[in-house]
Amino acid sequence: MPSKGVFLVNSPNVKYTTDFIEADYDYQITKVESHGDVLMATPVTTKLHIQTKRQLPKLGLMLVGWGGNNGSTVTAALLANKLQLSWETKEGVHKADWYGSITQASTVRLGTGTNGQGVYIPMSQFLPMVSPDDIIVDGWDISSMNLSDAMKRAQVLDVNLQQQLRPYMQIMKPRPSIYFPDFIAANQASRADNVISGTKWEQMEQIRKDIRDFKDSHKLDQVIVLWTANTERFCDVLSGLNDTAENLLSAIKASAKEVSPSTLFAVACILEGTTYINGSPQNTFVPGCIELARKHRVFITGDDFKSGQTKLKSVLVDFLVNAGIKPVSIVSYNHLGNNDGKNLSAPQQFRSKEISKSNVVDDMVNSNRILYGPNEKPDHCVVIKHVPYVGDSKRAMDEYTSEILLGGHNTLVIHNTCEDSLLASPIILDLVILAELCSRIQFRRAGEPDSEYCSFHSVLSILSYLCKAPLVPEGTPVVNALAKQRSCIENVLRACLALPPENDMLLEHKLQRPLIAFGNLCTVQKGIEMHNGMSITTGTARDVPKQLVDKIHQNGTKNYTQG
Ligand SMILES: NC(=O)c1ccc[n+]([C@@H]2O[C@H](COP(=O)([O-])OP(=O)(O)OC[C@H]3O[C@@H](n4cnc5c(N)ncnc54)[C@H](O)[C@@H]3O)[C@@H](O)[C@H]2O)c1
Repeated sequence: MPSKGVFLVNSPNVKYTTDFIEADYDYQITKVESHGDVLMATPVTTKLHIQTKRQLPKLGLMLVGWGGNNGSTVTAALLANKLQLSWETKEGVHKADWYGSITQASTVRLGTGTNGQGVYIPMSQFLPMVSPDDIIVDGWDISSMNLSDAMKRAQVLDVNLQQQLRPYMQIMKPRPSIYFPDFIAANQASRADNVISGTKWEQMEQIRKDIRDFKDSHKLDQVIVLWTANTERFCDVLSGLNDTAENLLSAIKASAKEVSPSTLFAVACILEGTTYINGSPQNTFVPGCIELARKHRVFITGDDFKSGQTKLKSVLVDFLVNAGIKPVSIVSYNHLGNNDGKNLSAPQQFRSKEISKSNVVDDMVNSNRILYGPNEKPDHCVVIKHVPYVGDSKRAMDEYTSEILLGGHNTLVIHNTCEDSLLASPIILDLVILAELCSRIQFRRAGEPDSEYCSFHSVLSILSYLCKAPLVPEGTPVVNALAKQRSCIENVLRACLALPPENDMLLEHKLQRPLIAFGNLCTVQKGIEMHNGMSITTGTARDVPKQLVDKIHQNGTKNYTQG
């Protein structure tokens, strides 16, 4: 399956071959050492060779909690877009879209056009990425309801859209799942009519069998599993139980009580070599699970979708702290009426969410010791209540109180209606598309052609932008600030094409004399019909002449570089 959108990089550091995009890239950081009272800052460059596989896999997605609000909504969105559906609403005809997805509905600044203006292209066209239309979906749920009825139960989508989707979704039925009542709220018991029996090991083996069955029956190259089931309580992390990979496997064999359904799913995926994404807050990734993922070189990522209130918080606090304003109190109330809210009305499940939401401002606070003393933090309080009437339209009300100049105060009060599943579904899509892309990117030091390539770390923290409580490799910094998380993704995409990070300086427009040229920058290798940026300035790489795209695909081994 060739990728759709193409643009070309005109650089001696990039080579397009049939199978790969090969990039030589200078990765630059500033190393800081302390010498007594002096901080010594040293620029350090590492020359990397980055290889991105161009061939896209036939990709399957398995959702745990398929029949829930998120599961049914993302399935409906995939179908509605694939079938290009439109439907009547009281405001007029609405067409399927992917609003809220960074890969499908956001653009990335490619560079400066010959007219000096920024040139933006869809993120999905920056590197070869799987199209949502090609993703095949399956999944598990402890509720046996078919996906059409589940969509109706969710009360998220317009009825005219539901009616069109019914024939496609009523034939989709979740596979039986693992249910240990102790891990989710007691009020969920009435849904649980579709469960696996047996020991914990046998149940885990059944999940592995399901993954293989799905893969074989659709002839898939790759499967990604994503947990969008109920929030579980935290499990205890105990030495001898789940602290090492070996202990965790033994604990599963012994059907130890503290091994949660989500950890069983994660272990099943790791043993199958399948990427596992956790969209809920619980501590699925106990140390033994992380060790197992590393051993098997499988990606795991999470935790908890960053969809509404937390996303805004990770923008607002970053803005305040970087403006030299000191947030001292952040109080967040939520009420919601969907099944997620019902489950979270139980204290242990609420506690998981509270923990997940609590650390979101830490990195921003720690970055500014002018405002905050060593152990000082803003007061931060999170409340969640279940109010059935509002359904999936979660209300998030936040009060941010900050100290400003000379003892003054600034208070921001925000009322945010977060249509929960409509915000979470595009995040699910992005997690899947970007996680798959990451599996095709490999690194080695430049100039060491015989050395082995390495992939991203098993704990795939590059997807932090999409997660409320990002899981990171042990001992590495957690970044919550949304703008930094986003620029991480953009700049990694750029690195794969040997393009420098976006530095936002725009010096080409800011100097007395035009020291920096941006007009007619594209001198192109002779004999190659290369577009000169004109087609890109329209904002889409689709306009690249078809013969050129064909040529790239056909003459793959040719080096499309300058000189
Ligand atoms: N929607 C959002 O904006 C958002 C944001 C962040 C996190 N989340 C998390 O995503 C999860 C799903 O949210 P939702 O609104 O779809 O909830 P939901 O209650 O509508 O759906 C959860 C589904 O999981 C099923 N389930 C429970 N335990 C299961 C198991 N062991 N195996 C398989 N299925 C199981 C339930 O039957 C239900 O159908 C929740 O944990 C929620 O906290 C949602």
